[in-house]
Amino acid sequence: MKIKILPSLLAADMGHLADEAKKAEDCGADALHLDVMDPHFVPNIGMGPAIVAMAKKVVSIPLNVHLMLSRPDQFISNFIEAGADSILIHVEAECAIPDQLARIRDLGARAGITINPDTPAEMLFSVMDKVDEVLCMSVHPGYGGQSFIPEVLPKIKAIREFAVSRGFNDLDILVDGGIELMTAIQCAEHGANVLVSGTALYGSADMKADIQAMRDQAQEHLMPSSE
Ligand code: DX5
Ligand code: ZN
Repeated sequence: MKIKILPSLLAADMGHLADEAKKAEDCGADALHLDVMDPHFVPNIGMGPAIVAMAKKVVSIPLNVHLMLSRPDQFISNFIEAGADSILIHVEAECAIPDQLARIRDLGARAGITINPDTPAEMLFSVMDKVDEVLCMSVHPGYGGQSFIPEVLPKIKAIREFAVSRGFNDLDILVDGGIELMTAIQCAEHGANVLVSGTALYGSADMKADIQAMRDQAQEHLMPSSE
């Protein structure tokens, strides 16, 4: 499995969003992560479909769209029309999760399920055959710049082991929240192969070098069963 690095646009300079999206691509990002939030699901408000459409115009790398919404079912088609390549909904959302995952694929996008730090891994197991990606939150969702919660590491490992045991060998396991070089390595050691990073990469003096270092070192430490 290849390590992929996804800068999170939430940490970009909001006054220059298009340039910041392009910067991630120019610095070697594998995809761009965009955070969509409603204030029922998280204590914040995030980006809408117009921002996804803007990013679609300026970059050619895939757009990985993380819906932190209580009712993602009401907006899935808007984000796919806007250009989302992957749609991640939360297992904690208030909708028929298996149906909505199937719908995301029917509409032509990659389907992802996201799990909050306090939600047990087992909540995902029944939908593993319906997803291309699993996103493990390593902070409580809503804000960038928080500290990584190390208690999620065994959960990442349990999800990877379950996926491998069921033959889902191509499953992408993403981790999001407090990811910098050291936490990226720890997540890779526990089976995550896609690293989302906002503050560390957009705050970097050399995003290109930091993406390369994160990718190379995480690849070196990637859990053997996910190679
Ligand atoms: C948090 C978002 C993250 C956020 C991560 O709710 O889902 O994508 O941008 O930011 P950092 O890397 O700063 O923790
Ligand atoms: Zn996110």
